[in-house]
Amino acid sequence: MAEGEQAFDAASGRLDPAAAYACPDTFAREQHAIFDPAWQLVGPAEWLASPGNYVNTRFGARPVLLWRGRDGIARVTENLCPGIGGKPLAKAGRGSAFTIDCACHGWRHTPERLGPGGQLREYRGLLFASLSTDPPPFPCTGDAFGWHLGAMLDCIAETVTLAGEQPLEWRVAANWKLAAQQFCGDMARRRLMADDLHEVLDLPPAWSDPPALQLTTPAGAALLADEPALPRILTGTLFPNLCIDGFTCSVHLFNPLDPALTQVRSFSLVSPAADACERRAALRRMTLLFGPTGFASMADADCWTAATRNAQLAPRPVHLADAVAMTRNMPGTVFPAESDAGQRAFLGWWQQQLDCAPAPREQRLRVAAPREASDAL
Ligand code: FES
Repeated sequence: MAEGEQAFDAASGRLDPAAAYACPDTFAREQHAIFDPAWQLVGPAEWLASPGNYVNTRFGARPVLLWRGRDGIARVTENLCPGIGGKPLAKAGRGSAFTIDCACHGWRHTPERLGPGGQLREYRGLLFASLSTDPPPFPCTGDAFGWHLGAMLDCIAETVTLAGEQPLEWRVAANWKLAAQQFCGDMARRRLMADDLHEVLDLPPAWSDPPALQLTTPAGAALLADEPALPRILTGTLFPNLCIDGFTCSVHLFNPLDPALTQVRSFSLVSPAADACERRAALRRMTLLFGPTGFASMADADCWTAATRNAQLAPRPVHLADAVAMTRNMPGTVFPAESDAGQRAFLGWWQQQLDCAPAPREQRLRVAAPREASDAL
């Protein structure tokens, strides 16, 4: 999809799958327009709590380093040495160090020399960051979706952390948007949550097939359990790519590596006070339902892979149906569960980001080269 063209028409709901899911130009535009400025989940805030702590991650396809200096300031930058070899600075997923020496020509880097870069924000024990110095509004607060996300986290604790040492990381041969769309309003997975699966997952009986609604907001869309006391997220997507599984209180980040390859990072969330037994149970639930070989994720990933392949080989326009909003006294706009409202909201948001993005320019967040000869080894 070239500059100025549209893959999704929000007015009619018409989607061009080849342009949306299989086009290298679209992929490049997404990285610039969506993933460079967007707030992205990094992990639990404790990963970056002390001076020297660093985290090596990805925002979309771009490698990113977060590193806290001796001055107490945590900085965000692209994880690339500015030397001619362009090697990654940090290789480990996370760790603690006050210097990192580039393996290529030996330049020594420190967190204090990363210079001004992106922004960090902590939300209920979770760390979010953006590569932009002028990011969009933080989506977890100030939007109706944030209210629903907060309600889900309330079921765990005031602040949350990971059940395990690190997220599960896996890859799917599919376009990332197919996953993000599905989490926006996934009746199929809800039906998969049959009574016997509830038993296997050891979920409360109340989770067994509640009536559902779809929710759309400017920052995210979800399938909600329509419970009078507290509507709760069954599945949801905080735009662009943070997908929420309310069944197992886990979140999944879908990072595009190329148009047909997505890295998934799956985080099982628990209270920091959870003991080893509770952490094991939470991890087990997430892994059984939505880990690399989970009941739902294996079926879902097959669908995403097939849809990506179809978009490459035999693309035909798709029409997402319009739906009439319902009257409900809750934050956000509510639609019937059996509708395309969530997917339309996501794709409309996605197309708008591409349409409104400024023209690409040279990436400005790389770390500085050593200023003096003595800085280089
Ligand atoms: S790439 Fe040569 S010093 Fe880093």
